[in-house]
Parts: sequence; structure tokens; C-alpha cells
Amino acid sequence: MGLLRMKERSRLSGTISVPGDKSISHRAVMFGSVARGTTRVDGFLPGADCLSTMECFRKMGVEIRQEGPTSLVITGKGWEGLKEPREVLDVGNSGTTIRLMLGILAGRPFHAAVTGDESIARRPMDRVVRPLRLMGARVEGRAEGSFTPLSVRGGGLKGIHHQSPVASAQVKSCLLLAGLQAEGITRVEEPALSRDHTERMLTAFGVKVKRDEKGVAVEGRQTLFARDVRVPGDISSAAFPIAAALITPDSRLRIRNVGLNPTRTGILDVFRQMGGEIEIRHSGEWCGEPVGDIIVSHSSLKGMEVGGEMIPRLIDEIPVLAVVATQAQGETVIRDAAELKVKETDRIAVTAALLRNLGARVEETDDGMIIRGGTRLKGNRCDSHGDHRIGMAAAVAGLVAEGGVTVERAEAINVSFPGFEELFSRL
Ligand code: S3P
Repeated sequence: MGLLRMKERSRLSGTISVPGDKSISHRAVMFGSVARGTTRVDGFLPGADCLSTMECFRKMGVEIRQEGPTSLVITGKGWEGLKEPREVLDVGNSGTTIRLMLGILAGRPFHAAVTGDESIARRPMDRVVRPLRLMGARVEGRAEGSFTPLSVRGGGLKGIHHQSPVASAQVKSCLLLAGLQAEGITRVEEPALSRDHTERMLTAFGVKVKRDEKGVAVEGRQTLFARDVRVPGDISSAAFPIAAALITPDSRLRIRNVGLNPTRTGILDVFRQMGGEIEIRHSGEWCGEPVGDIIVSHSSLKGMEVGGEMIPRLIDEIPVLAVVATQAQGETVIRDAAELKVKETDRIAVTAALLRNLGARVEETDDGMIIRGGTRLKGNRCDSHGDHRIGMAAAVAGLVAEGGVTVERAEAINVSFPGFEELFSRL
């Protein structure tokens, strides 16, 4: 891809679908790999991150057949089916792959070396390494195990009660996956509820998961039983065409079969509160996940404050929310979002720089940003910084920027949204 040119547009319309949910696709591959029996996955996201997960499990001897671009057949042989990998497990750009896989490796009685790309090398791993060590796993790595490359020798785990200082589904899922292989009960509590795809999919795979207001717990030594998984469209990907339709005059889009898990739909709530005309038509449940269509029209928007428990419900959508905020009347304040600093890039700094580069008025804060809206954006060249969501946020800004936007290093978009450029040229 290299460069992606997005011209200023006067109208977007049509019915579209977006690629499969990234979080659910990762989990389908991982859970299918450690379950007993054959798991068929339909609607799998063939983005770079999920392909990294697939490759890692293949290196541990799991047979994963790709029957089409979005359908997989995984032959699981239980936890014991995983074999000591001869090669380094390379997670590429994927935080979800490394953190969830570490939970699986922590329980396996073999050695594995794990690494990733430049961005992964900067992301904190101590948030999972420390509790895994408390459970009994031997994990070593750079800076005392805080960063990749890491090496794990698993087995002999005991359940723990972990109070996570951050609302992170990756931390929670990692510890639950280790806990399923441990002796006794593993319980995780978090300051606000993070996405709960792991809890839902484990239940669908026959695992007993106990949930209450404060946290989630699993008893150890449980087996997963294979089942078919149909992956809904990713709401985090849908957020880009939704944002595009909200800010581009005369637009109306219908996005079919999007995952509507309430731990992920914060962006719809916020856009609606800003005045966005968004209609949601629930149509059913796929593997424990609510699914439906989203209909969105160009709207006149006003700024608002976003913080607290809303943040984990829209954490990945903040870059595109910031783009939309430049087109709303008044101020949008994003707070309690310091986690953005440890995503694929420092998304507070990078989003603010992107918007400033287009003439927007934005101020970075310690845990978010303040965007003063009502700005006519000016086209420019923008770097993705190798971050898929920054590349797509820049492209959406191009739809309303005088002269359009050219996104550099746009190939990063393939991490979660293969076909992004084609989709927008079709609309
Ligand atoms: C994810 C959890 C979130 C999210 C990421 C996917 C997952 O990360 O930002 O894109 O699939 O569990 P954290 O757990 O670090 O918040």
C-alpha cells in the first residue's frame, strides 16, 4: 500500500460490512488450538495480527487449515496438544497475541521464546509477567522480564487472586488462561470492566466461568471443548466508516453484522450523545456475542466529556473520536485514558500531532486530550507511525480536509482492516 490518498468527499452512501472482529478472531484461534476436537471459524479476520497468532500456534504443532480467506479449521488436541516450539514465536505487532499466549505458555511444561516487532518491544509486559510468576511460571526477559524478548518455561501453576491496576482484557484473559491450567481458583478483579470476549467464548467452549460485579474467576484443570465460531464484524473497524458518515455531508451508511458486545459499544453511546444519528438493529447472537446492523447518517455534532468507566469501552476508538471532535461544535475532553500511551504507539501524542498537522486545535493532557471543535481541516501528508488505527484516523480526516490527506506507511492498516482503501473508494 505505502501511500493512501483520501480526497475530500461530499457524500458516502451504501451498505457495507467490515472485517471480522480482531479480539474474537485471536481468541477463536487460541481457544480452538487448546480445545479438544475440531473448531471451524467463519468470518476470521485475515489481518496481520491474527495471522501472527495463527503462525505461533502452528509453530507449537497445531494443525490450522485455512479453507478460504476468512475460514479456518483448527484441529485441537487439548492443552497437551501444544508442543515445545523449535523456533521463536514471533507475535509481530500484536499485543493481544503476546499477552494471551503468555497465559497459555505459562501452564505448558516446555520452553518457548517469544518476541515481536519494534512497537511490541516498547510495550509493557510486566503487567502479565509479574502475576504469572506469582502463579509459578518461570518467565525471563529484557529489563527483568518487563519487555520482549521473553522466554517462558511453564507448568506447575497455582491459582492466584489478582487485583489488576488497569482495566485490561489482555491482562485478565492471560491470567484466566493460565488459571485454567493451574491448581485451585484464579480470580481477576479490575478497576472497570474491560471487554469480556474471553469470558463469553470460554463459556461457549464448555468452561465454567464465574462472574460477579467485582471480577471473574475460574477453577483450574478445565478442558475446552471445540465448537464452531462465527466472528461478527469488528466494531473497532466499523468505527471508521461510522465516523466518516457522521462528518461527511449527505452521508448514510448501513453496516451489516457488527459485534455489539456492550463492553465494546462505548463509541456508539458517545457518538449518539454528541448528536450522531445512529440506529442499531440487533439481529441475534453468534457464539455468545450480540450482533446487528448499524445505520448512520451525517449529523450535526457537539463536543462532550469522555472519561471514567467509558474509557475501556472505547479505548481503541479514541483516535477516530478525536478526528470527529474537530468537526463538532464546542470542546471535547478525553480524560482517564493514560493507557493510550502504551498502545501500538503513544496514541495521545501521535493523535494530537496528527490533528495539529491538519490545522486542528488540540491540547495534550497527562491522561487524554482536549479538542476544540468546529475547525475546517487543511489537507497534508500524515504518517501512520506504523499504527493501523492512526493511519485510518488520518484517512477519515482526509474526507473533510481541504485538499485531502495522504497517509504514509498506510500498509499498517492491514493489521486490522484489510480492504480499507477499496471499501472507501466503493462508497
Ligand atoms: C484487546 C484488549 C485491549 C485493546 C486491544 C485488544 C483484546 O487492550 O486495546 O486492541 O483483544 O483483549 P488492553 O487489554 O491492553 O486494554
